[in-house]
Amino acid sequence: MSDPADVGTPFRPDPVRWPSFHVSRHPAVRHKLAILRDEDTDPKKFREVVRELSWLLGYEALADVATRPIDIRTPIEPAEADELAVRIGLVPILRAGLGMVDAMLELMPTAQVWHLGLFRDERTLRPVEYYNKLPDRATVDLSLILDPMLATGGSASAAIDVLKRWGAGRIKLVNLIAAPEGVDAVTSAHPDVDMYCAALDRQLNERGYIMPGLGDAGDRQFGTSQ
Ligand code: PRP
Ligand code: URA
Repeated sequence: MSDPADVGTPFRPDPVRWPSFHVSRHPAVRHKLAILRDEDTDPKKFREVVRELSWLLGYEALADVATRPIDIRTPIEPAEADELAVRIGLVPILRAGLGMVDAMLELMPTAQVWHLGLFRDERTLRPVEYYNKLPDRATVDLSLILDPMLATGGSASAAIDVLKRWGAGRIKLVNLIAAPEGVDAVTSAHPDVDMYCAALDRQLNERGYIMPGLGDAGDRQFGTSQ
């Protein structure tokens, strides 16, 4: 059981090997993960839980983002408050990342959303880019890449490459479940990218699926499992 004093901050399971990798330890996150992983969870419930977990992870991923003071009036008196001081871009990786967008927009209503389409070739496990809706030049200060699964890390690394070529400033990667192989790949290719996830799983199987994982995140969200 976690120390209640610690649950609000994600921990770094191996700060030497993975200095930028954070895993949530919030009990609500762990509770929702159990529902997500369960093979009996239907697509409607699965989408609902992807959304709820995304909100909780977005909250943790934004913890160090700069704010600036603003003057407002409460019904009682003038007051000083804060607003986010960075322009945020959300970059969902199609298809599965789509399910994370709405919750993130609730947290960051002024964020821009830029879609990137990548699928993993089932034979080579290499990412294939098929859609890119980024404008010519970067228009945000912080980009959050959204994808439920970090398996080999090929898709995430490819997405980060695209964003860096685009001129993106700071980049954070938000996943629901990560495999150690993927964390290694992203850490070595992009040590400047902070990673946030709900769970670090054991390893990949011979087909590149995360164990224990949750199966295929896209199929489970969109009801396309065979
Ligand atoms: C899944 C997942 C990631 C990728 C992770 O997408 O959503 O994008 O695999 O694997 P990797 O770390 O080994 O690259 P998939 O290719 O199944 O496409 P989909 O979202 O359209 O189902
Ligand atoms: N993509 C998924 O959706 N699930 C995995 O376990 C690995 C890649």
